[in-house]
Amino acid sequence: MDNELIRLLLIEDNPGDARLVQEALSEARGVSFRVFSADRLTTGLQLLSEQTVDVLLLDLGLPDSQGLDTVITAHARFPDLPIVVFSGLDDETTALESLKCGAQDYLLKGTLHSAMLSRVLRYAIERQRLKTELIVSEARTRRIIEKNADGIVVADRRGVVRYANPAANVLFGVFGDDLMGRALRFPAITDVRTEITIPRGDERVVTVELRLVPTDWEGEPADIISLRDITDRKMAEIRIETQVQRLNALRRIDTAIAGSFDLRMMLNVLLEQATTQLGMDAASVMLLDPTDLTLDVIANRGFRTPTARAPRIKLGESFAGRAALERRSIMAIDPELIAGSPSFATLWAAEHFAAYACVPLIVKGEVKGVLEVFHRSPRTDDDEWRGFLETLAGQAAIAIDNAQLFKHLQLSNIELSLAYESTIEGWSRAMDLRDRETEGHTLRVTEVTERLARTMGIGNTELVHIRRGALLHDIGKMGVPDAILHKPGPLTAAEWEIMRRHPQFAYDMLSPIAYLRQALDIPYCHHEKWDGSGYPRGLAGKHISLAAQLFAVVDVWDALRSARPYRAAWSERKVLKHISSLAGTHFDPQVVAVFLKVVSDNAPCPHHYSEKVASA
Ligand code: C2E
Ligand code: SIN
Ligand code: SIN
Ligand code: FE
Ligand code: FE
Repeated sequence: MDNELIRLLLIEDNPGDARLVQEALSEARGVSFRVFSADRLTTGLQLLSEQTVDVLLLDLGLPDSQGLDTVITAHARFPDLPIVVFSGLDDETTALESLKCGAQDYLLKGTLHSAMLSRVLRYAIERQRLKTELIVSEARTRRIIEKNADGIVVADRRGVVRYANPAANVLFGVFGDDLMGRALRFPAITDVRTEITIPRGDERVVTVELRLVPTDWEGEPADIISLRDITDRKMAEIRIETQVQRLNALRRIDTAIAGSFDLRMMLNVLLEQATTQLGMDAASVMLLDPTDLTLDVIANRGFRTPTARAPRIKLGESFAGRAALERRSIMAIDPELIAGSPSFATLWAAEHFAAYACVPLIVKGEVKGVLEVFHRSPRTDDDEWRGFLETLAGQAAIAIDNAQLFKHLQLSNIELSLAYESTIEGWSRAMDLRDRETEGHTLRVTEVTERLARTMGIGNTELVHIRRGALLHDIGKMGVPDAILHKPGPLTAAEWEIMRRHPQFAYDMLSPIAYLRQALDIPYCHHEKWDGSGYPRGLAGKHISLAAQLFAVVDVWDALRSARPYRAAWSERKVLKHISSLAGTHFDPQVVAVFLKVVSDNAPCPHHYSEKVASA
């Protein structure tokens, strides 16, 4: 208790009584008092509102207030202040009523002494202690709130901020006490957790999770709103979503690349995905022409002024040319460089572009072109954005490479086909030359067989094989010695034995050649007969391939019309009569019927006949 300063207010209109109190207080040991005095209730209350006072000693008979009303008035104004009634009346009733009205104790003027005053002292000290504790606990609570990472705002029911901790100020992008007194419009909080985004002056958008607890603030209904910054979580969600969308975009591009060799179509799909997924306004792909080292625009998207664009630029020129030459991406460009590249500057101004990136398209170490993306307002990019841009560039490079490979493949296929056809025709000419007197036979039978096949409804794909088979039909005769082949008379049984092997020889010769496998039917089966009496395998009816059946009719027809070392040529009339007679034995009757119609329609097929003659 030592050295405590107790501040006491005495409201007493009687100077004698006041002096008595002063004397009693001065006798108290170990405690010093500071005594304030007032002789009216009004002046006393005025003093209380200006001074910190620990205890009030109150007379009940004042000029401006008497009796219990005095206690009631004082207690109503200062409910926490200990009031000790200081009464001249030895009246138990008034004393007890005083306590009910808010007084802590009462003292009788007549019995006033230091022992009595020690009670006054106790109230004063107790009050000081409570006050200190309150300050300490308030400070602790305040510290916790102030240091809280979550924003804490107390807003009244109109949304006016009555308190905001520093974290809340940071979330709203304001500093100091800026949030205080502002009216914030929070959305209707329908759930325990509600998300809001706070667009701020610094262009950052903060996502906040709100929680709301109704409370009282200085006697008014209010809400404690805690605001948790979930921007990072939100950003992570958005990143994942973006990632999923980008992967889908890549899948769509892959599908386009796998499903087509149409480069422009593929690149259009790619540019569509590039602009949407990268959030860009325009994009283009330029293709490097390795012969004259220029970049030519091959696909475009999102340009408003197509003519503002140079259709081709030299390698090393402008940004695209530099990206291709130096094999590096150009992500940011400075205005001086733009000005230094007049055609680019024209495009830039005409299209109102504000952001640009260019990535070289490299596949297997080879620069194929560039991918450019443009945006009409400035934008910041991140590693993921750049990563995706480069992935798209990789896809574009692959698409271009695929298309170029396919084009080369197609060309070499055509060259190879031409080479094969010439080889086949060369072989068949060699055959005709060896068969001297059958010269022209092969081309003739080929042409008529094709016509017959077409009439029978055979399609182009099969016709290719039929044509090759017809050209090579007697290639097996290469295995037949001249002595037999050129014998001017009938063959002996032994000679026949060899002659009849020519289809098998053809099969043995040609079957290892994959390219001719589908053309084997005619060389292998053109001597099979409808009734099964032919060779080499004695196949009958539909077991003989249609191509070989058609060809067999034409072959016999042409052989009989031609002179042979062993006989003279037959007349057309005799040949046709002979063919008719073989329907159902040597030949399929239906094929014979169609054949007779085809040869009686003597006009040669306009497309094919002349071609064959020309190439012969
Ligand atoms: P090729 O001369 O190209 O004759 C093809 C087919 O036409 C013959 O198949 C046969 O079905 C028919 N053909 C050709 N000439 C006659 C003929 O004078 N009378 C009749 N009825 N049909 C004829 P084939 O018979 O299997 O003969 C296959 C090949 O064997 C012939 O091809 C030819 O190179 C050779 N050959 C056939 N008969 C003789 C022959 O008597 N002497 C010689 N030196 N070679 C023959
Ligand atoms: C471009 O880079 O796309 C065009 C450049 C130019 O026109 O100079
Ligand atoms: C062919 O492939 O040459 C013809 C096959 C057929 O007609 O059965
Ligand atoms: Fe033959
Ligand atoms: Fe023949």
